[in-house]
Amino acid sequence: MARPYDTTRLAQVHARSIQEREAFWAEQAKTIDWMKPPQQILDYSKPPFSRWYVGGETNLCYNAVDRHLAARANQPALIYISTETNEEKTYTYADLHREVQTMATIMQSLGVKKGDRVLIYMPMIAEAIFAMLACARLGAIHSVVFGGFAAPSLAARIDDATPVLMVSADAGMRSGKEVPYKHLVDEACRLAQKPPAKVLMVNRGLAQCGMVAGRDADYAALRTQHQAAQVPCAPMLATDSSYILYTSGTTGKPKGVQRDVGGYAVALAASMRHIFDCKPGEVFFCTSDIGWVVGHSYIVYGPLINGSTTIVYEGLPIRPDAGIWWQIVERYKVSAMFSSPTAARVLKKQDPKYMTERNTSSLRRLFLAGEPLDEPTARWISEALGGTKIIDNYWQTETGWPILTAQHGIEDTETKFGSPSFAAYGYDMRLIHESTFEEVGANEKGMLCIAPPLPPGCLQTVWGDDDRFVKTYFSAVPGKYLYSTFDYATRDAEGYYFILGRTDDVINVAGHRLGTREIEEAIQAHPNVAEVAVVGVADALKGQMPMAFAVLKNPATVQTEEGRKAEEKAIMATVDKELGAIARPGRVHFVTLLPKTRSGKLLRRAMQALAEGKDAGDMTTLEDPSALEQIKAVLKT
Ligand code: PRX
Repeated sequence: MARPYDTTRLAQVHARSIQEREAFWAEQAKTIDWMKPPQQILDYSKPPFSRWYVGGETNLCYNAVDRHLAARANQPALIYISTETNEEKTYTYADLHREVQTMATIMQSLGVKKGDRVLIYMPMIAEAIFAMLACARLGAIHSVVFGGFAAPSLAARIDDATPVLMVSADAGMRSGKEVPYKHLVDEACRLAQKPPAKVLMVNRGLAQCGMVAGRDADYAALRTQHQAAQVPCAPMLATDSSYILYTSGTTGKPKGVQRDVGGYAVALAASMRHIFDCKPGEVFFCTSDIGWVVGHSYIVYGPLINGSTTIVYEGLPIRPDAGIWWQIVERYKVSAMFSSPTAARVLKKQDPKYMTERNTSSLRRLFLAGEPLDEPTARWISEALGGTKIIDNYWQTETGWPILTAQHGIEDTETKFGSPSFAAYGYDMRLIHESTFEEVGANEKGMLCIAPPLPPGCLQTVWGDDDRFVKTYFSAVPGKYLYSTFDYATRDAEGYYFILGRTDDVINVAGHRLGTREIEEAIQAHPNVAEVAVVGVADALKGQMPMAFAVLKNPATVQTEEGRKAEEKAIMATVDKELGAIARPGRVHFVTLLPKTRSGKLLRRAMQALAEGKDAGDMTTLEDPSALEQIKAVLKT
């Protein structure tokens, strides 16, 4: 039996974090190093903007690297493992310090100064992390773009952040095959209105890497020149910005989540202790990608700020076989691991011997986040790992660290399958009824909201658009500043939360957050598409898959089966080219009419319900019933 929430130590800590907010976060701030202590813990004079640790000066790179040199110079800081190129390399904190300073000097030589933006478009290699930390060291703002995004997406992010430098590589590798990057870099620079003046290329010797004279610089050559370089950590105001990370929302244009320096450092340091319960010197293995928020917080900054060893893994969970992750756990005595439910479902399809034949006893907890964790998967993986606790944690790019989670560093509460447990300290949660805007009772569905001020580590604003920040996140409940997560949830009588899915048009494919509007806009780039609707449809492996319903300008092209197949393929290829293969719809169906209300609103929920074999729901506002009949008919194909 789970203990009632209100009698636990965790509940007391949580209550204090809200009622004595500043005292609580002043204490947490003591675990990082400051160049100048903050004069004010929180400035909330301009709601809903919160400014944490005002007047304080610190540096993320100093906290992640330099401050550990005295006690841990020879401890592994970063272990790079690639099952794609069969490389494995350990960097101690002293090595990391050296590499980051070399990278920072190279960046300086290419014109990067404090406050400038640097775009990092790289595969999972150690140099990507050197580049992030080098930015932090110099006070430059990094914008890491996931390597799977196509040139037009990259160009849009270039134009929004206007970086002076882009750091990239000749290629990534996936499943033993090179995935060339350089032509995408060149094309994005061509498409962008404000391309970066310089591009720094890490040449792995995997793909053709033609260099553009005057713009492109070769990392290996510059590295030899700047091997023993020393660069101090720039003193940064806690309230300065550390990075921008783009994420999808309701509109087609991705939002640049802007993060601060001091609040983020404190929030991550606190989470490593209270949530991940990982000690300095222990090994943390996060299987995400640095292109996502989980990678930023728990491959790079969190474990390093904590003085732990972080594992950076390039490869798939099932190559060379499904035992690879557990082999890594055994070899490096990993204490805490962080992955996604989709990865767990992929492993579940494999022989469990791959897990049981390895000694995974060092692994205390496996954290899973990014999408709903279904009960059968949670049970299976927990049993296969023979006692490792499975911790479902719920959060967002915007928050930078878990919102709802067990906090075993504070108290070893029991977990319930299907629930990410409780609100983390610092988060003042509200569950609001969708139409009455009142708080709902136990087990009643509501919109999951956070009463501001948002705790340290959460987004400062949307890059370059304060207005969008306020309008997007704080307008779900009229007349009140409440941050909307855009997720529905319930809370049971014992305080355990259950996430029920998004309230907006965002879908979650294998833990990757995608906007259906973004995919629709990509499909519109196909010359024969007149109109399109994209919905997320339940998928046993990936959680959700995009499905498209398209109206063609010239429907004659899909009259034969071959023609239909060719058009479907061409639309999928358009998505690959415009957005990236991660957004490719699983199916594209052709209709001559989309279901809309009389006022012209697309009935996405109805299309989604039908695609999932459910009832379409209330259809009284439907303009032309034949549209739904068409959807039903094509779904049978
Ligand atoms: O819908 C929720 C889902 O993923 C969204 C956030 O995605 P992203 O910004 O990519 O950040 C991922 C950070 C882990 C949320 O709004 N989501 C995230 N975690 C969970 C989840 N849904 C259910 N259970 C979770 N544990």
